Amino acid sequence: MLIALRIALYIQVLLGLGRFFGFIANQRLWETHISLGVLIAVLALLAMRPHPKAGNDAVRVLARFMPLITLFVGLGLWQDVFVGRFAVMIHMLLGLISVGLVERAGAQERRAAAGRAG
Ligand code: HEM
Repeated sequence: MLIALRIALYIQVLLGLGRFFGFIANQRLWETHISLGVLIAVLALLAMRPHPKAGNDAVRVLARFMPLITLFVGLGLWQDVFVGRFAVMIHMLLGLISVGLVERAGAQERRAAAGRAG
């Protein structure tokens, strides 16, 4: 599940940056960003649950919920609750932070499973 979450997040980054820099004009393709966003939020809630060995530290809790917060801001952009470049930048920043948190928590999980600290 973690690998699916990571792949989906990187596709999301590519779609987001592609849209931001004007490479994605096709509306169908762009709408994938919304459905993938919902999938990512659900996968993060499941994959970043407390882990028997890695535990449930702050990084893991943030990794669990940050994609959901990013999704709420994204849905707000979609429905024009939030408007303007600044809101888009905040959304992009939250998305990139989500990637970092999931990577960090995933690495902790792998290390804990291998019996190493940290
Ligand atoms: C957890 C990850 C993410 C989720 C759940 C998510 C979700 C969403 C949603 C639902 C929208 C509204 C779609 C629309 O307006 O048609 C959106 C818009 C957008 N997202 Fe994301 N997104 C994520 C990550 C990212 C990342 C990493 C980037 C770029 C680095 C990004 C860039 C954008 C851009 C540029 C928009 C368009 C805003 C606008 O022009 O109205 N997103 N996102």
